[in-house]
Amino acid sequence: MNDRTWGGFGPGKEPGEGAGGAPGACSPEAGAWTHVPIREECDVAVARRRARELARHQGFPESGVEAIATAVSEVARNIVVHAAPGEIVLGAASEPGRRGVVVVAHDEEPGIPDLQEAMRDGFSTSGGLGLGLPSARRFMDEFSIASPPGGGTTVTMKKWTHDPDE
Ligand SMILES: Nc1ncnc2c1ncn2[C@@H]1O[C@H](COP(=O)(O)OP(=O)(O)O)[C@@H](O)[C@H]1O
Ligand SMILES: [Mg+2]
Repeated sequence: MNDRTWGGFGPGKEPGEGAGGAPGACSPEAGAWTHVPIREECDVAVARRRARELARHQGFPESGVEAIATAVSEVARNIVVHAAPGEIVLGAASEPGRRGVVVVAHDEEPGIPDLQEAMRDGFSTSGGLGLGLPSARRFMDEFSIASPPGGGTTVTMKKWTHDPDE
């Protein structure tokens, strides 16, 4: 892992390629992604609401719904505060025995020069609490962040729940 990625997936992947490459069991069906443009604070609420709806649809208990909604709020707010514009992309995933929600937060600039530092509890360049990224990571099951030099930031997160149909 170089110093411009942090977490499990690695840089430069498109939504749905994060955990496994080509479309497969873990990828949302084609066309199943929801795109929420993020420019200002009210867009954060839209992303949060869409995330809640998708998580409920996927069968998450309310605690999981709220965890996903909170993680989405944090990465969406980071786009507003540190980077706007950008977007949140939400997708449903399924694998044998489990269902999930995939969240990709993406923006084009300015990027994050030191991801290790950005992931630390309490680190903020804006006088914030510096808890957004670390808490998003804790709320989700899988988390990665990439910020290649000269580019923006992409955060990819997944959370899973038991598939009630199996
Ligand atoms: N999308 C982003 N673009 C640029 N910098 C970001 C982005 N998201 C987070 N950061 C950087 O990472 C730091 C830590 O983020 P976070 O944990 O959410 O804390 P806070 O937002 O309270 O500062 C931010 O202060 C900022 O420097
Ligand atoms: Mg933040």
